[in-house]
Amino acid sequence: MHGEPSPPPAAPTLFDWEFAANPYPAYAWLRTHSPVHRTRLPSGVEAWLVTRYADARRALADPRLSKNPAHHDEPAHARGRTGIPGERKAELMTHLLNIDPPDHTRLRRLVSTAFTPRRVAEFAPRVQELTDRLIDGFAARGEADLIHEFAFPLPIYAICDLLGVPREDQDDFRDWAGMMIRHGKGPRGGVARSVKKMRGYLADLIHRKREALPAEAAPGEDLVSGLIRASDEGEHLTENEVAAMAFILLFAGFETTVNLIGNGTHALLTHPEQRARLQDSLAAGDMGLLETGVEELLRFDGPVELATWRFATRPLTLGGQDIAPGEAVLVVLAAADRDPERFAEPDVLDLTRRDNQHLGYGHGIHYCLGAPLARLEGRTALATLLTRLPDLRLAVDSTELRWRGGLIMRGLRTLPVEFAPVPN
Ligand code: HEM
Repeated sequence: MHGEPSPPPAAPTLFDWEFAANPYPAYAWLRTHSPVHRTRLPSGVEAWLVTRYADARRALADPRLSKNPAHHDEPAHARGRTGIPGERKAELMTHLLNIDPPDHTRLRRLVSTAFTPRRVAEFAPRVQELTDRLIDGFAARGEADLIHEFAFPLPIYAICDLLGVPREDQDDFRDWAGMMIRHGKGPRGGVARSVKKMRGYLADLIHRKREALPAEAAPGEDLVSGLIRASDEGEHLTENEVAAMAFILLFAGFETTVNLIGNGTHALLTHPEQRARLQDSLAAGDMGLLETGVEELLRFDGPVELATWRFATRPLTLGGQDIAPGEAVLVVLAAADRDPERFAEPDVLDLTRRDNQHLGYGHGIHYCLGAPLARLEGRTALATLLTRLPDLRLAVDSTELRWRGGLIMRGLRTLPVEFAPVPN
């Protein structure tokens, strides 16, 4: 538990490749010995890492911690960064994860209707159809890379549908997004070119939708049309705000869901007893274990390792540590969700876990807007994979898998699997 007798052993090395493969022992050390820990990130920027559950929850909801990068005392960084390629472009900056109330409240209210559980449930048949189509693409082969062929394309098509990107343009979107998170291979400068293409496309899409907007909203109207309608009806949403909203939805909802499917499948394949229980309950038509199980997969090895940047606007004390105005705070969700002060046997994967108020979707006013859609996609993807490919197994040893080294997200580069071929 917390508060061991001194002196503590040396602090672990953070953010190298070994850490990326398994950060949890280092986070356990931080929780015990330095729960609000000053560190220099690989980028050279300094920040406080918050690792205990109680402190993390408090920090995520503390109004003295702003999301607006203008409050950061590092001028170069203050121009804004959540790790999203291209977001320094001024027209895409005003998005939900970079702003505070009252602007945040206004913009969030405008999009929140698109994410009610009922609205998201309308997507279920389309998500199932996409999932099946992607599995059809490799089922007969008996092997696949589940990141590239499955986890990666599924969320991008789902978000395109949500935004109202026409089906014939969705493969372009997939390619640009792939380049932007470097899943795609391509020439140097490909990332910048892809961001530019996507910005241009979004501006054009907004323009075309505005021209073609019917007088009355139809049920199931796409999100971009809904935002244009709101701005035309006096909500004063600028064209940049509409574009920034589309962009943040794409990025907040894309790599996160890729990693939920990737990390979740990996956790199941490396915990055969838990995976067998889930398969048995799915075969019996019981969806209860799938529901608690996806939440447990989010807690155990979630897609968002660190919440996005926060900056102190006033002096505050967190976990006994004074934080000065202008300093940056990074809440380590992955560490908080393994805190033994909050979760019984936190390093054990238990799909039946019910007392599971994990922070995988954040907490407070920036709590994940897309959580209902993410849950739908995660449940559909995992249940369909395990049902259609019942003997799914890793094609390499788990220790050979490479994790992506980014700061905010935790996810695999590839996930090679094998299974008995299933003719389509
Ligand atoms: C498993 C998948 C997902 C996970 C684990 C996840 C996690 C998170 C987390 C931790 C935050 C809070 C970040 C912070 O406070 O710094 C967040 C915010 C957000 N998420 Fe998600 N997310 C997922 C999927 C999605 C999807 C599918 C969408 C939409 C299509 C989405 C849209 C958003 C938006 C718009 C925000 C910002 C909300 C605000 O600032 O008010 N997310 N997400």
